[in-house]
Amino acid sequence: MNGNGFGTFIEKLRKNPQTIVMTEGTDERVLEASSRLLASNFLKPILLGNPDEIQKKSEEAGFNIRGAQIVDPMTYDKIDEMVDLFCEIRKDKGLTPEEARELLSHPNYFGTMMIKMGLADCMLGSSSISTSDTVRPALQIIKTKPGRSIVSACVILVRPSATGENEVLAMADCGINERPTVDQLVEICEDTANCAKNFGISPKIAFLSYSTKGSGHGEDVDRMRNAANKAREEYPELMIEGDELQFDAAVSPRVARQKCPNSKVAGYANTFIFPDLNAANMGYKIAQRMGNFEAYGLILLGLNARINNFSWGSNAMEVYSMAILTAALDLS
Ligand SMILES: CC(C)(COP(=O)(O)OP(=O)(O)OC[C@H]1O[C@@H](n2cnc3c(N)ncnc32)[C@H](O)[C@@H]1OP(=O)(O)O)[C@@H](O)C(=O)NCCC(=O)NCCS
Repeated sequence: MNGNGFGTFIEKLRKNPQTIVMTEGTDERVLEASSRLLASNFLKPILLGNPDEIQKKSEEAGFNIRGAQIVDPMTYDKIDEMVDLFCEIRKDKGLTPEEARELLSHPNYFGTMMIKMGLADCMLGSSSISTSDTVRPALQIIKTKPGRSIVSACVILVRPSATGENEVLAMADCGINERPTVDQLVEICEDTANCAKNFGISPKIAFLSYSTKGSGHGEDVDRMRNAANKAREEYPELMIEGDELQFDAAVSPRVARQKCPNSKVAGYANTFIFPDLNAANMGYKIAQRMGNFEAYGLILLGLNARINNFSWGSNAMEVYSMAILTAALDLS
């Protein structure tokens, strides 16, 4: 990945080994990823689930998970302490101990509380329930980083190019906010740019629309243009096109020469801020499925802890990669 990316992540983790909660302890892909992690010693998995079931599944699938810590939310010995803290965090919402106990029987809530209690460094959540259900515990328990008003989600797309260097793109918000406001788009822009830098790219940022620099009209065009201009004012150090761009003007030098000849970003954009969740989610999936990009994400941005979820379609290698990037991103 452009001389950066996973090599750098692994180096960081070797210097500062971490623990990661894997909420889906019986998932074969998680077991395979865990066996690889255990063999390499820089990121130790903590598997959630019934120990007998996990052992049986790993033996059947032929993955050696010896040395992995297994925690069963159903028999956890410090559950009372966890229930008390959860109720304290959610006291404004009137969470009762009975409700807390029920929620903590779900691995994503249990794992998130482990992070909150400092029992693990980071977490990779399950893909077996909807995105809303996987991120809700983090939004409720962990909340945003100081200075941030929202959590959003980007996807990093990687494809080998003819030059031998990988082509790396970032897209957001592909997972959380349905129709971000101008201020939310500005926040998404900065968080996505910071995330993209970890993967070895110098972000060139386009705010996408069906209009290029006023060629089309509408509320959504105004929203994207205003966000692009505001982001450029707020982050002069970032390369941001100060108006809205269509996708072809953003990535095709020929189209950009015609439509925005003086731009330093148009034609060469690699970081894309989409107007809404529909467009962003479809956009990354089109690139992944039809453009042969590998997709890493959803990577949660703006959250005050390292928590991500792997997606339904991920294979074991992608789960392994997601575990590594979850642990290494934001690791000082
Ligand atoms: C993120 C999402 C799950 C929140 O949904 P929700 O739980 O129904 O919404 P609520 O308004 O009840 O929010 C629950 C909590 O999360 C917080 N929250 C909601 N959206 C948030 C955001 N974008 N950033 C930070 N916190 C957020 C709320 O403030 C609330 O906190 P509180 O309970 O302490 O008051 C919702 O926006 C969603 O479903 N988004 C689309 C996800 C999706 O389908 N993605 C598909 C792509 S894979």
